[in-house]
Amino acid sequence: MSTMVEQTKKATKLIPFELKNGQPSFGFKLYQQGCANSWFPKEISLAQDKQEYDGKISEMEKHYLKYMLGFFCTAESLVANNISYALYKHTEDPEWKLFLLRQAYEEANHTVTFLYVLESLGLNREEIFDMYKTEPAIAAKKEFEEQFTVSLMDETEITKQQLFRNLFGFYAIMEGLYFFSGFLIGLSFGRRQLLKGIASLFQYILRDETVHLGFGMQAMRHLIAENPEILTEEFKAELSNLMKQAVILESNYAEVAMPEGILGMNKNYYLQYCQYIADRRMTALNLEPIYRVANPAPWLVTQTDLPELVSFFEASATTYETQV
Ligand SMILES: [Fe+2]
Ligand SMILES: [Fe+2]
Repeated sequence: MSTMVEQTKKATKLIPFELKNGQPSFGFKLYQQGCANSWFPKEISLAQDKQEYDGKISEMEKHYLKYMLGFFCTAESLVANNISYALYKHTEDPEWKLFLLRQAYEEANHTVTFLYVLESLGLNREEIFDMYKTEPAIAAKKEFEEQFTVSLMDETEITKQQLFRNLFGFYAIMEGLYFFSGFLIGLSFGRRQLLKGIASLFQYILRDETVHLGFGMQAMRHLIAENPEILTEEFKAELSNLMKQAVILESNYAEVAMPEGILGMNKNYYLQYCQYIADRRMTALNLEPIYRVANPAPWLVTQTDLPELVSFFEASATTYETQV
């Protein structure tokens, strides 16, 4: 067990700006990718979205939008908290730390984006930001995610398996599953030529989240390759159970968020998309898929699978980079 002083020294290790073997690591490359994606929410006008929201969007669509915003407003902060209170502290690799600092900024930018959407549509900011307290389905997802942060924040030293569990909870599940199912609806409005400004903001956020997901998946593959003993049968079963629990929570959320079908989708369509995405995250980590269902929204693939980034979360577990 290291002392607090040793741990603080480790946590405050300075970032070297030297490349390893003359090559940037994936953490550094993704940091650069994130910087190249810089954007600001007010670059997109939401004036037309406001008119459409008032005149063309059905009550059920408004109901879903409210839930989607309520979840994202909470979720962005949960991710930022995980980086600030758990992940950064327990990360030793300097390039990973560099990436996490950039990611934390982007999560703040996303929170500001959702605030901009709320204000532009004339929605009640306090009501939406408080939905994690008032809506049990959102509270349940929040509680599920917070366990990964809370279990590490007071630890002075953690095992590679604990680190992997945190990455799995936040990158495979929070960003990889919950965010992508939110994008399904957000981008569906744009596909129907509605709320195109908001859909554009979602595209920007999606691009950032894809980089975050790429980082997490690559980090997990790196941990497995360097420490194959992590993946015991028991731990694999635990990860599979966590993914199943996450899908159940998402299904419960869909029950209240979309009690009737919207935008040509219904709860079953939504659930099948979640199951498809869950399996994709599992197989990208060389773990057994759980549901084995087809993608019900193939149109979304062209929007979510960004060619320059897909290799970071879809490549086989043996193609991880070795420099880090
Ligand atoms: Fe985000
Ligand atoms: Fe993110």
